[in-house]
Amino acid sequence: MKIGIVVYSWSGNTLSVAEKLKERLAAGGHDVALEQVALAEERKQGAREFTISGAPDPSSWDAVVFGAAVEAFSLSPVLKEYLGGIAPLDGKKVACLVSQQFPYPWMGGNRAIRQMRKLCESKGGSVAETAVVNWAKSKREKTMAAAIERLSAAF
Ligand SMILES: Cc1cc2nc3c(=O)[nH]c(=O)nc-3n(C[C@H](O)[C@H](O)[C@H](O)COP(=O)(O)O)c2cc1C
Repeated sequence: MKIGIVVYSWSGNTLSVAEKLKERLAAGGHDVALEQVALAEERKQGAREFTISGAPDPSSWDAVVFGAAVEAFSLSPVLKEYLGGIAPLDGKKVACLVSQQFPYPWMGGNRAIRQMRKLCESKGGSVAETAVVNWAKSKREKTMAAAIERLSAAF
């Protein structure tokens, strides 16, 4: 299966999970591309004003994983804007990944996933799996391993 992974990652946390997921999916025989949402200028931490200069196009993939951080108990506004602007997903299988600093998914992760799911579904995507990685030291390894396990099993 041709799988695209599209992330927006300000400090590299979500990207590092996406890289591990890419390795796992490739080891499972999939043809995997990892692409990042690019901005025209360096974004100040948490800034709500930005211009997307590079928006990966999911059209050529059979399935796609979207990933970004939780920002202020919501999905990163960059990924929100990106998802709002992509072409229809037309029944494509989709998985959603978020990373967050706080140790429990109810501290923003669950809400960000709900927002991502809604945006993907509004584009006609079929959300097969979701995962929250908690970056707090005590939870990081465990939630990352669980996310990679769950998301890779969805394809
Ligand atoms: C502006 C801003 C707001 C944030 N808000 C939250 C939050 O509400 N809950 C949380 O758990 N983490 C929050 N974080 C932490 C990030 O979600 C966390 O560090 C994430 O792993 C960063 O991923 P990235 O490097 O892929 O961007 C916030 C970070 C920033 C910069």
